[in-house]
Amino acid sequence: MTEKTLVLIKPDAVERNLIGSILVEYERNGLKVLDMKLINASTEMAEQHYAEHSGKPFFNRLVSYLTRSPLVALVLKGENAISRVRALNGTTDPEDSQDNTIRALYGLSMAENTVHASDSLESATRERSIWFS
Ligand code: TYD
Ligand code: MG
Repeated sequence: MTEKTLVLIKPDAVERNLIGSILVEYERNGLKVLDMKLINASTEMAEQHYAEHSGKPFFNRLVSYLTRSPLVALVLKGENAISRVRALNGTTDPEDSQDNTIRALYGLSMAENTVHASDSLESATRERSIWFS
């Protein structure tokens, strides 16, 4: 099934000039960029984006991280894009990520893991409406 998924190239990646290196991974794998923008996330956007984690011990740190400097939001399209992009990104903790995944290559830590991708069709729809309203 052709799907659209929402990706964030997070502040730690933009700060380290990794936008191009990360986009290459998606494009080389046949995913199509449908929409893209550099944006300073507001606290409200970050809180909405991570609403499922509201109240958890790492939530405030997560919101501060996402809002500290610009990020790139993009919509990628392709066959099974949601699961494929999650696989390209790697596991949440870069320490555990499979070799050559984006988080293994570029992730700094669990708290600064470089990329986000939607985990379901429902999340993809919800998250796209936050970043591309
Ligand atoms: P989560 O949705 O579980 O991971 P993923 O990004 O792989 O979908 O968590 C959202 C982000 O929260 C995650 O990318 C990193 C951060 N996080 C922590 O800092 N500590 C934690 O214990 C967890 C579970 C997540
Ligand atoms: Mg998640």
